[in-house]
Amino acid sequence: MSGRLGAALDGLLALARLVLGARGGMRARLRAVLGVPEGQRAAMAVLRFAKPHLALKSNLVACYEGEGTLLLTRAADVREVLAREAEFAVVYGPRMRALTGGRDFFLGLQDGELYRRDTEALAAITDPDDLARVLALARREAAAAVEAASSAEGEGAIDLPPALAARIPALMVQQWFGVTGGLSLEQLVADATALFHYLFSDLRAEPEVSTKAMAAAARVNAAIEKSRATAAPDTLLARACARGAAGDPAFDADGVRTQMLGLIIGAIPTLSKASCLAIEELLQRPGAIKGAERAARAGDEPRVGEYLFEALRFSPVNPIIYRRAVADTTIGATRVPKGRMVLAANLSAMHDGEVVDAPDQFRPGRPFEQYLLWGMGVHRCWGDQVNRAILPAMLLPLLAKPGLRQVSPPDGAGTPFPCHYWLAWGLRSST
Ligand code: HEM
Repeated sequence: MSGRLGAALDGLLALARLVLGARGGMRARLRAVLGVPEGQRAAMAVLRFAKPHLALKSNLVACYEGEGTLLLTRAADVREVLAREAEFAVVYGPRMRALTGGRDFFLGLQDGELYRRDTEALAAITDPDDLARVLALARREAAAAVEAASSAEGEGAIDLPPALAARIPALMVQQWFGVTGGLSLEQLVADATALFHYLFSDLRAEPEVSTKAMAAAARVNAAIEKSRATAAPDTLLARACARGAAGDPAFDADGVRTQMLGLIIGAIPTLSKASCLAIEELLQRPGAIKGAERAARAGDEPRVGEYLFEALRFSPVNPIIYRRAVADTTIGATRVPKGRMVLAANLSAMHDGEVVDAPDQFRPGRPFEQYLLWGMGVHRCWGDQVNRAILPAMLLPLLAKPGLRQVSPPDGAGTPFPCHYWLAWGLRSST
C-alpha cells in the first residue's frame, strides 16, 4: 500500500505541474493533461491508490452501448476482467458488422462455437514460414527507406509513417495477405486507419468518423473482392479462397472478405502508431535512446525490441481496453450491473508497483509477461508474434543512425493516428 501511496503522491505532483504548464481554462487544461500518456499515468497512479474502481454515471465510450462506466486501474483487476471473458464481453460487434455488411468478425464475438470456428480456420491458413517472410520484408524495406532518406554526408530526414511505419505493414497486407485490388498503398493506409478509428477510438461517436469509415469499408471490401482472382498462391487470401471452395464455412464468400477486412484493420494503423509512440518515448530519454542506438548499431534486434516494448509500456497504442458486463456481477467488492461499460486500464496495470518493479524507471528487458501492449486472454492480439518480430526489424535501421532527433511532433491531422512524424539524424547534431 505504501508503494501505491508514494506513487499517488508523485502522480499528484506531476498532475499539478502538467496542469500549471497547460494553456486555457481549467477544463481545457485538464483535457490537455489527460490526453497525453504522462498525464494519464499520473492520474492513474492517483486512482490506483484512492479510487481503484472508479464508477461514473456516463458511458465514456459513446460509440458503443453501455450503462455508465467502471474504470479499473489496478493490475489484478485489469487482468481479471480480461480473463473473465464470459462475463465481460467485447463490445465491437455492431460496428464490426456495419463494416463487413452484416457478418461478424471474431474480435466482435464472445468465445464460443463461431469464435472458435473462425480463429481455427485462420490458424489453418497460416504457414510456419509466413513470419520469416514478413520479417524479411520488414528488414529489407526498413533498410531501403532509411538509405533513401540519407545523404552521402551521413545526415538524413524521414517522415516515419508514410516512408516506413505504415508503408511496411501496408506492403505486408499486399504481399502476405494478398490484398492488392487496385488500392494504392497510400489509400490502403488511409482507409485502414479510418476503419480502426471508427472501431476503437471514436469515443464521442462523431458522424464524420462514421462517414469516412463507411467510404473506406466500401473501398477495402471491393479491393479484397477484386484480389481474389489474382492473389498469389502463398497468400492468406488465396489459401482462404481454396478452403472456402473446399466447403469451409468460415471462408464462404462473406467469410473470406470479413476475415481479410478484420486483419487489415488490425495490422496497419497499430504498427504505424506503435512505431511513432515508441520512438517518441525513446527520444524523451537520453539514456534510452543511446542504449537503443547501441543495440541497433550492433544489429541486435532482440535488444532493440526490449527498448521498444519498454517505451510502449509508457505509451501504448491502446491504453485502455473496453468490455461490457453481460450480467450483474462483481469485481472484488464492487457490484457491476449488467450493461456497464468496464474500462480495463492496461497502461495503469503496467505501472502498478504491486506487480512491476520500479515501474517509473525505464528498464528494457523486463519479463515480457508484464507487458499488456496488445491485450490478454481470449482476444489477445492475433498479430502478437508479428508485432514482436517486426517492430524491432522495422525500426532498427533508423535507430542505428547517430543523433536521431524529432523535427516536429507526430501529426494526426485531427485524428489520434500520426500520419506524419518527421525525424532527422546526422553527426553534427549528435551529443
Ligand atoms: C503494435 C501493433 C498492435 C497493437 C498495439 C494491437 C493491439 C491489439 C489489442 C489491444 C487487441 C485486443 C483487443 C481487445 O481485447 O479488445 C488486439 C486484437 C487483435 N489484433 Fe492486434 N494489435 C497490433 C497488431 C496487429 C496486427 C499486425 C494484426 C494482424 C496481422 C492484428 C490483428 C488483431 C486481431 C485479428 C485481433 C482480434 C483477436 C481476437 O479477438 O481473438 N493486430 N490487437
